[in-house]
Amino acid sequence: MARSILHMLSPSKHVSPFDVNMALDAGFDLIVPYQAVLPGEVGSLVQDAIFSRAPQDGSRTCLFVGGKDAETALDMMAAAKAAFVPPFRLSLFADPSGSFTTAAAMIALVSRRLSDRAGSGIAGRRVAIFGGTGVVAYGAAVLAAGEGARPVLVGHDGADRVARVAAAIGSRFGANVEAADGSTAELRREIIRQAEVVLSAAKAGIQVLSAEDLRHAPKLLLAADVNAVPPAGIAGLEVQANGSPLGDIGQALGIGALAIGNIKYQTELGLFRRILASDQPLAIGLHEAFALASEIAGRG
Ligand SMILES: NC(=O)c1ccc[n+]([C@@H]2O[C@H](COP(=O)([O-])OP(=O)(O)OC[C@H]3O[C@@H](n4cnc5c(N)ncnc54)[C@H](OP(=O)(O)O)[C@@H]3O)[C@@H](O)[C@H]2O)c1
Repeated sequence: MARSILHMLSPSKHVSPFDVNMALDAGFDLIVPYQAVLPGEVGSLVQDAIFSRAPQDGSRTCLFVGGKDAETALDMMAAAKAAFVPPFRLSLFADPSGSFTTAAAMIALVSRRLSDRAGSGIAGRRVAIFGGTGVVAYGAAVLAAGEGARPVLVGHDGADRVARVAAAIGSRFGANVEAADGSTAELRREIIRQAEVVLSAAKAGIQVLSAEDLRHAPKLLLAADVNAVPPAGIAGLEVQANGSPLGDIGQALGIGALAIGNIKYQTELGLFRRILASDQPLAIGLHEAFALASEIAGRG
């Protein structure tokens, strides 16, 4: 069998050491990093890779797309696919900043715990997503909308930037995502007053909601946080929480960063292993990550 090679592309200055470790632990024989890659360079890199190996070894060659921006990563995936010259192809996996697997883990676990608690998942529920211009929030909004929820991306410095993200999601996925200004405590409280689910996907070490803010969320059923660096993104949410009560905040349950991180870790590792086990080239993105995360989270 041909050796497995992972070409790791990032438009950023560095490829992610987390992803390098995970790919090696999954079993790749060789990992080659490429930094500061422009979307326009992806096609020629793909064609350089595919023609050096027999078509049947396309499944032993994988191109991973990292970076810090979901739209750029999705454009790079599309450029890579467009460069295939069948039967010469390779496997593709996009997970910028680990965000697709993280968002997949968060929405899968949130849906599972809502079903346990309230008898139905995220569909139809108002979901406020803090850290709305970030790459994890992007994935969470796409998946929540795809599940029939009503996501709103919350910006910390006004509504303009989150509105642009919501519009980009709408035109790429046909998904309905709203945008809101969360730049003051009053505005944040107004947003969470309507929400049944609150997700914190803000920068590490930033608290977006205080205990006092949470008293203004009478409909809140579940709060989840992906930030593992103290303080918690949502006050009172323990990193290990996995459906336990959120302090003394009414009926709400909490899911912390390590519970989500556990599903995220298994999802990313599982997707690398799936690529290695396949005799056909695979294309893995946000929705494939969500399908596996949902299985792992035990969601029907
Ligand atoms: N649990 C896990 O398995 C896991 C895995 C991966 C990532 N994470 C965590 O997921 C979170 C999101 O990741 P990311 O890569 O999207 O992070 P990010 O790009 O660093 O930040 C996400 C968002 O936070 C916003 N933000 C910055 N300062 C803020 C403030 N003072 N108040 C409110 N929001 C603020 C950013 O706004 P700007 O656009 O203005 O910068 C951006 O919208 C991070 O906490 C990261 O550590 C967790």
